[in-house]
Amino acid sequence: MQQVGEAVAYALREMTKYAQPGMSTKELDDYGAKLLTDLGAHSAPHLTYGFPGWTCISVGNEFCHGIPSEARILQEGDLINIDVSAELNGYWADNGGSFILGNDIHQHQKLVEASKEILRKTIDNIKGGIKIADIGHLMETEAKKRGFKVIKNLGGHGIGKSLHEEPDELLNHRNKYDQRRFRKNSVVAIETFIATDSTYAVELSDGWTMVGNKGGFMAQHEHTIVVTDTKPMILTAANEVLN
Ligand code: CO
Ligand code: CO
Repeated sequence: MQQVGEAVAYALREMTKYAQPGMSTKELDDYGAKLLTDLGAHSAPHLTYGFPGWTCISVGNEFCHGIPSEARILQEGDLINIDVSAELNGYWADNGGSFILGNDIHQHQKLVEASKEILRKTIDNIKGGIKIADIGHLMETEAKKRGFKVIKNLGGHGIGKSLHEEPDELLNHRNKYDQRRFRKNSVVAIETFIATDSTYAVELSDGWTMVGNKGGFMAQHEHTIVVTDTKPMILTAANEVLN
């Protein structure tokens, strides 16, 4: 798990550094594909769902699952989300991060910082025995405090021997019927879905890309962690998304 965690974290960090205005999202994905391949890792969304790319790259009003494309050219000030998940020697890890390309000419920084702070706080509060719904409540409360909303139909998930395992649907809000608790030694992908206007993500006609039901922007930050008795062990810390 540590090896695949480091592989996806390295690919995400290097792709984030490599992104430049004028580059297509396909070029950025090709670079990520090479980084993963050189480490012997295989794209998780491609293996699991037949996703048409190695990584998900979502730009501007796209929330997630954006398809790498030669026609999509990155521009100064774009809000970009890269999500990298992969399989290596039978183990799977997942991580992602939103960032602003170059100068923040569209004022996305507040949203990006809120999402990072919320992921940090969320991870700090997870340990064995803690209720999953209470963590969802914490995430929504922290988002509201900063003037943002959470996306209700996206969530984190267990991960390990496949991309999505139990416990699935680790939502960013409280589901009062959810009695589940985090279990010590389990591995989960924790992700934020912090939005300016929308509360649901809806799929575009390409069958992949998701945008907001009420438009606006969304920031996501994701780590794969091991739940312990104290602070979680972060397997994707090398991505530096929280730095
Ligand atoms: Co995930
Ligand atoms: Co992900």
